Amino acid sequence: MTTLFDPLTIRSVTLRNRIGVSPMCQYSYKDGFSNEWQLVHLGARATGGAGLVIAEATAVEPRGRITPYDAGLWDDAHIAPLKRITDFIKSQGAVTGIQIAHAGRKGSTDKPWSGGKPLKESDDRWWQTVGPSPQAYSSDYQTPHELTKNEIKEIQSLFAAAAKRSLAAGFEWLELHAAHGYLIHEFYSPLSNHRIDEYGGSFENRIRFMIETIQAIQTVWPKELPLTTRISGSDWYEGGWTVYESVELAKILKKMGVDLVDCSSGGNISNAKVPVGPGYQVPISDAVRNKANIATATVGLITSPQHADEIIRNGRADIVMLGREFLRDAYWPLHAAKTLGVDFKAPPQYLRAF
Ligand SMILES: Cc1cc2nc3c(=O)[nH]c(=O)nc-3n(C[C@H](O)[C@H](O)[C@H](O)COP(=O)(O)O)c2cc1C
Repeated sequence: MTTLFDPLTIRSVTLRNRIGVSPMCQYSYKDGFSNEWQLVHLGARATGGAGLVIAEATAVEPRGRITPYDAGLWDDAHIAPLKRITDFIKSQGAVTGIQIAHAGRKGSTDKPWSGGKPLKESDDRWWQTVGPSPQAYSSDYQTPHELTKNEIKEIQSLFAAAAKRSLAAGFEWLELHAAHGYLIHEFYSPLSNHRIDEYGGSFENRIRFMIETIQAIQTVWPKELPLTTRISGSDWYEGGWTVYESVELAKILKKMGVDLVDCSSGGNISNAKVPVGPGYQVPISDAVRNKANIATATVGLITSPQHADEIIRNGRADIVMLGREFLRDAYWPLHAAKTLGVDFKAPPQYLRAF
């Protein structure tokens, strides 16, 4: 039986355990450039024992940021400061992942601790957002510009360029952000995509933007390294994207050579009723993993080592990602090993504490 502290090999990469740091925006950057905050934030979680450390949603173009303070990879100049981080994470025995992203109609907002509201057009930080259809996320958000087919192709090539820069920056694990109501999710959800061309309407048409984006990434991302994606497994809304569709999508992704689906949910509908509770997204991962026969990660209100271990033991996911719990405790894996009675070594500098 596989356990939380068993290694996991995907392509040429081996995680020392199945504990992942879920990507978490830090809204702490200028013009997309990584800095000391990100080095310490991600570095601490690598020293804390995580098998996989995924850098937050990193925008493929300035318009693709959630806030003006997001990380970005739209310029070669962004590579060097990230390389410092991947070097350090690797030196601590963790695998370096990055999530590349486009915020679509949910961009151009302020950082959460400044209210998180959409910026006003009169604010010089404001930008015009884009989406599959001219429909705002909610009444306080701006109406996005409806992408033309040429603009769709341009954004797909920006994703590929960011993937290439991710590789140059030393990342070994790529996660395409296709969840939480951002651009790719906006395309595959029937609630935000009202197009009448080949990118809207049927399931095949709504997933086309994602599929073509992955194909563009595959022209630059090496076969030896894991290519993964985070999806929202359900819109939690009548008439929206469903777990059934997620399984159908995952079967297609598997055929294309995508290695793992990180199963989150929601984020596209502001008044969706999400059944939040410990491990509430595990059934989505379970369905995708066991019906589409593809590796998955699960995430969402998983805080106890026993719970994380149980999910792996019962084959409901291949990796357990922790978000907020990792913000509370960078050393969660070291504490979890102790709780579960597993021999897992802290860095030598910290051995006297664990
Ligand atoms: C501060 C913060 C920033 C986040 N940023 C991202 C992000 O960049 N990309 C993403 O896919 N999810 C993001 N999320 C969602 C988390 O990755 C995670 O899926 C969610 O918090 C649920 O897991 P948890 O209950 O363990 O926190 C963020 C969450 C938090 C709390």
